[in-house]
Amino acid sequence: MADMDKYAVFGNPIKQSKSPAIHTAFAGQCDHRLQYRAVRVEEDDFERATRAFFSEGGRGLNVTVPFKQEAFALADRLSDRARRAGAVNTLSVAEDGAIEGDNTDGVGIVRDMVANLGWMVQGMRVLIIGAGGAVRGVLAPLMRERPKSLLVVNRTAARATQLAKEFSDLGAIEGGGYDLIGERQFDLVINASSAGLSGEAPDLPAGLLTEHSCCYDMVYGNEPTPFMRWAAHHAAWAVADGLGMLVEQAAESFYIWRRVRPETQSVISELRLAMEAA
Ligand code: ATR
Repeated sequence: MADMDKYAVFGNPIKQSKSPAIHTAFAGQCDHRLQYRAVRVEEDDFERATRAFFSEGGRGLNVTVPFKQEAFALADRLSDRARRAGAVNTLSVAEDGAIEGDNTDGVGIVRDMVANLGWMVQGMRVLIIGAGGAVRGVLAPLMRERPKSLLVVNRTAARATQLAKEFSDLGAIEGGGYDLIGERQFDLVINASSAGLSGEAPDLPAGLLTEHSCCYDMVYGNEPTPFMRWAAHHAAWAVADGLGMLVEQAAESFYIWRRVRPETQSVISELRLAMEAA
């Protein structure tokens, strides 16, 4: 164990994290010897724990709730996409000892939708529900796919308005309250609100979907989320949860650290099977 490169995910809570299983599977695929642990960090201890991890020879960290903004503040250097997102989920240490911050969440969701699920974003009318950190990470990679339009709606309208303004240089992004949806229809609907965690589906108009619409929930679980059930009930053409996004963001982190792009489909399938058996 002593000679293995050390990686970890820091979060709180962290017990349910699938990241150790995912990275261990990636390492197995490419015959890399590494150790990856899930570590629960106390809320006021992130900076100390991170600096200690790297000074003890740790090679890379994933950062999850609630520390992504703190990781952003701690990094000595930031990638463009981390700067855009205002959040960091991947830390690594450069040759000169600097801590570098990146954000792979947005790339993860787009890769899952486009490469794994075969959904088109280009030319589509896209609706995003929510305006928190998760949306910040995803806007730039989504806009790169050149959707026809992109509307961000949020319970607190002002947060969505502000996001749309901040990202307006990327193209036409509208933002505001749920009322902006009106009679409009969308080809791709992404749920990035955490309403589902308390069992609620977002309050959406019934006529939102067409028979070709795809619905993606960034959250995943053993059961379909309230938003996924809403989408299926309203006859969405395809519905997916965020398990693939989780694996894809991990693959991009693995690439940053190891310069190898792992194969993701088999890992997604294995996790799905394990979840279904649970
Ligand atoms: P994340 O990093 O996962 O995006 P966040 O920044 O806390 O987490 O954002 C949570 C998002 O879920 C917000 O858009 C929040 O809406 P508000 O900005 O109005 O708080 C949304 N959300 C949480 N609970 C919700 C609920 N019950 N109904 C609708 N939206 C909800």
